[in-house]
Amino acid sequence: MTAYANTNTFYISIWFWLILGVVSYSGWSKHVLTVQTGGSVTIPCHYDKKYTQQKKYWFSEIDKSKTYTNKTEENLSVIDHPDQSLFTVTMRNLQNKHNGHYYCVVETGEQPPINIIYETQLKIQSAPDVSLVSSSVSGHEGGNFSVQCLYSSEYQIKLRQWCRYKDQSCYTVGRTDTSQNSSVQISDDDGGRSFTVLMTGLRLTDSGWYFCSAGEALNPVYLTVTEAEPGTNVSINHKCFDTTFEIKHN
Ligand SMILES: *[C@@H]1O[C@H](CO)[C@@H](O)[C@H](O)[C@H]1NC(C)=O
Ligand SMILES: *[C@@H]1O[C@H](CO)[C@@H](O)[C@H](O)[C@H]1NC(C)=O
Ligand SMILES: *[C@@H]1O[C@H](CO)[C@@H](O)[C@H](O)[C@H]1NC(C)=O
Ligand SMILES: *[C@@H]1O[C@H](CO)[C@@H](O)[C@H](O)[C@H]1NC(C)=O
Ligand SMILES: *[C@@H]1O[C@H](CO)[C@@H](O)[C@H](O)[C@H]1NC(C)=O
Repeated sequence: MTAYANTNTFYISIWFWLILGVVSYSGWSKHVLTVQTGGSVTIPCHYDKKYTQQKKYWFSEIDKSKTYTNKTEENLSVIDHPDQSLFTVTMRNLQNKHNGHYYCVVETGEQPPINIIYETQLKIQSAPDVSLVSSSVSGHEGGNFSVQCLYSSEYQIKLRQWCRYKDQSCYTVGRTDTSQNSSVQISDDDGGRSFTVLMTGLRLTDSGWYFCSAGEALNPVYLTVTEAEPGTNVSINHKCFDTTFEIKHN
């Protein structure tokens, strides 16, 4: 009974702050994560460094429950990675009943007491609107990697992007202006049901969470960049300075 009351109070306070509009909401446009029935998904929630010590949780509009970080259950893991200023939420065995809105929340220890750092809608589908060929990709420092993003035909006319969660920077299919880095190439494949992202001259700092999207539908992926293999010369095109230099790993 007490537990229920606490949850309820929490639920009301979250909406209270939402309605007042005083939550420092990150400003992402609407995100709809599309996942296959029975599948799983990992959602990254980046938070400000100042919240490293604060309590973080995952909050579902559907069952009005909250789960604190560092909790692992059969179908749900919420893990804090303070060194990266993010916590990840992994949901497994997803079914239709999991459709709905979810929030990554931190307790601020100040006013407003609750900060919604990320909001997403989950859409469980037998054929997801957007999916990635693999949910985890890797490459070596100085090397390349490419990933293919599939989307259903009704998204052909929608904006198609490859974005990094951390700084919200995006690359758009078909855009050729110079604001996009030449180290990221993104192009539609023949048939118009997929696009391919190619990142060249990978740097260790390129590691992290990305997503590919079509319209508001998206799918996240983790990119791991490992140090170049010993004995290989890597030519890293440093994007900021437009200079190329060689690093030799022994
Ligand atoms: C996890 O999901 C499966 C499939 O939906 C379900 O049978 C099982 O009871 C779930 N486990 C928990 C602990 O909820
Ligand atoms: C959660 O786990 C991380 C990594 O193991 C640890 O650094 C952090 O202190 C833990 N947080 C809490 C609240 O237990
Ligand atoms: C990476 O891609 C660039 C541009 O397509 C190409 O010139 C280079 O040979 C590729 N490098 C590797 C290691 O595949
Ligand atoms: C790496 O570069 C050095 C100097 O440019 C060269 O002597 C060496 O043969 C290169 N090694 C490989 C594996 O390409
Ligand atoms: C391109 O790369 C530079 C240096 O890494 C970065 O400052 C800039 O924001 C990037 N541009 C885009 C559109 O991501």
